[in-house]
Amino acid sequence: MVNLGKKVIYQIYPKSFYDSNNDGIGDIQGIIQKIDYIKKLNVDMIWFNPFFVSPQNDNGYDIANYYQIDPLFGTMADFDELVSKLKEINVGVMLDMVFNHCSTSNEWFQRALAGDEKYRKFFYLRKAKPDGSLPTNWQSKFGGPAWAKFGDTDYYYLHLYDPSQADLNWHNPEVRQEVYKVVNFWRAKGVRGFRFDVINVIGKADKLVDSTDPVQEKSLYTDTPIVHQYLKELNAASFGKDFDSITVGEMSSTTIKNSIKYSKPSEHELSMVFNFHHLKVDYKNGEKWSKMPFDFMKLKNLFADWQEKMDQGGGWNALFWNNHDQPMALNRFGDPGKYRIKSAEMLATAIHLMRGTPYIYMGEEIGMIDPDYSSINNYVDVESLNAFNKLKKQGMSDEGALAIVKAKSRDNSRTPMHWDSDQYAGFSKVKPWLMPRKQMQINVCKELTQGEIFNYYQKLIRIRKHEDLISDGHIKMFLKNDPQILAYERFNLDSTSKILVFTNFYGQEHKIQIPTAYVDQPYSILISNYQRVAGNLQPSLIFKPYEALAIKLKP
Ligand code: GLC
Ligand code: CA
Repeated sequence: MVNLGKKVIYQIYPKSFYDSNNDGIGDIQGIIQKIDYIKKLNVDMIWFNPFFVSPQNDNGYDIANYYQIDPLFGTMADFDELVSKLKEINVGVMLDMVFNHCSTSNEWFQRALAGDEKYRKFFYLRKAKPDGSLPTNWQSKFGGPAWAKFGDTDYYYLHLYDPSQADLNWHNPEVRQEVYKVVNFWRAKGVRGFRFDVINVIGKADKLVDSTDPVQEKSLYTDTPIVHQYLKELNAASFGKDFDSITVGEMSSTTIKNSIKYSKPSEHELSMVFNFHHLKVDYKNGEKWSKMPFDFMKLKNLFADWQEKMDQGGGWNALFWNNHDQPMALNRFGDPGKYRIKSAEMLATAIHLMRGTPYIYMGEEIGMIDPDYSSINNYVDVESLNAFNKLKKQGMSDEGALAIVKAKSRDNSRTPMHWDSDQYAGFSKVKPWLMPRKQMQINVCKELTQGEIFNYYQKLIRIRKHEDLISDGHIKMFLKNDPQILAYERFNLDSTSKILVFTNFYGQEHKIQIPTAYVDQPYSILISNYQRVAGNLQPSLIFKPYEALAIKLKP
């Protein structure tokens, strides 16, 4: 089995990585041309957001054909070349498998629409209620009702996301067989990594009923017991046959208890889980489309809970701050201005030395930040545009709604990678599908010649590969009540040395008292984003703005 603790995964949003043929859209050949760059980081696998045939209503998460590469991104030959070139540098490929739903242009849906009984059973088709209202009162996660009219029939189909993303009926064994076939098709091409999109919402009840409130509504289709059964079946029928497979499930509003089950090796479900609780600590009253400074104590408690309990329960976490659905963490939890570099390093340290498998989202390793778009017309994401309209309908001004979209839009992380400071940031020679950030001075070329963040990431990755306490050790939080510092200890029951990690989440200096058990112990420096030197632990320590420090105690 793979030692997941020694792995680091890089995420590429293909549309925005590098445009090799200058049509404004990133592509597979573009990724191939940048392999030397990727190689420098020394990651083990790359997760690619979907590049399968798709009308791109939700940027590829609406798949029309699971077996083909969308011509926007290249050809199957390009894909095969990518896999083999990455293999040469020992980097695996992780594909994004979107099976909760498929595009309404998928042949399955089209055949269902044409009246084919077999394919009608692939979806959740329901008639209106006797009073003519929708089959249930469920809301789509992108806004609006979760039901849309099924052609010109009396039926409606369920879509938890965009109306162009029809939910697949996993209760139907034929659907599950089709899913396994897709995974096995890509396995046969040498793919060993799979990310399963919103996989914990596949187990809707057979009988769909109205919800009483939005929270209860999620429980009607999230983390239901049958999801575990379906994952076990998927595992046995596909990737579970490869000793070297790495899988991750994207879990929407999940619990620790379920996540342990999803990721515990003896359960034979998945290798690890993405959960998002720590990325909701800047949601006002749980509402994403709001603006609020992050709640640090809440963040600390969540990390403590998830890290310690997943450890105790034998589960495994994916560690991440960023992905294609999140604004850049630097803007949310760091300081994108004065302390951009220090806070980027601090944030990376905080999660890279935790227990789990770290994911790096493209651009994070050079400290990229959110774009500063001046108009709603710069945004393209369905979710953002729906939110903007909704906020305005609720009476908010254009400026108010734009300020919220600016802070929360998924486009924030989807803007093109900055390679240099040329027009369009060296991403393309023509105007890209989404404009680069104004801050083009933050780019790969400059970072590699005079920056320190990239180097710092390289070092964090090296530490994970060399220090068994980081890859395999247990974790315990300390300084739990400190209002500025997140601190934890990595230890192993059969080892006398320990690693202590300190991260200051603020731009002010801060003094802490070292727990007495550690005082006077000699230590060496594992990593420091200021110039700390080895010594003996004093009773108190003063941390600089956004300082990160990891030390190894050697009693
Ligand atoms: C996941 C994806 C997101 C997509 C959604 C629906 O959350 O990460 O980008 O919109 O699923 O497929
Ligand atoms: Ca292109």
